[in-house]
Amino acid sequence: MATDGPNDRLVVGDTTKGKRIKAIGNYWPYATTIFDYVRRAMPFNQPGSLTNEEVYSLTAYLLNANGLIGEKTVVNAASLPKVKMPAQQRFVPDDRKGGLEIR
Ligand code: HEM
Repeated sequence: MATDGPNDRLVVGDTTKGKRIKAIGNYWPYATTIFDYVRRAMPFNQPGSLTNEEVYSLTAYLLNANGLIGEKTVVNAASLPKVKMPAQQRFVPDDRKGGLEIR
């Protein structure tokens, strides 16, 4: 799951060799999105089958695998929003005005 297959990687690999591969650790701006995505859509063949506890554990596993939290860090509703994602400052608010807008 973490390294192979046709879809986006889940774990940041070696980015020193030029190509930046988008993964959770270098592209996702909010840690809470991991919980939300996994809770709604994963496992792909059986979404909705995991308990919230299990989804928090998987979120912790993925954050740890991406080097963003320690092995012993407890991830729950209180701690997850506090995890700072490196990609957060790479996004800017879209405040364009005057064109076609969907609100
Ligand atoms: C509970 C275990 C799983 C977790 C925690 C998990 C987690 C994730 C995450 C975080 C993504 C988003 C990746 C990204 O866009 O950067 C993802 C995408 C995806 N996963 Fe899983 N996954 C799990 C199980 C599975 C299984 C069992 C399958 C296949 C049978 C699967 C198939 C996919 C596919 C096809 C995508 C891409 C979906 C899309 O781009 O629309 N996943 N998964």
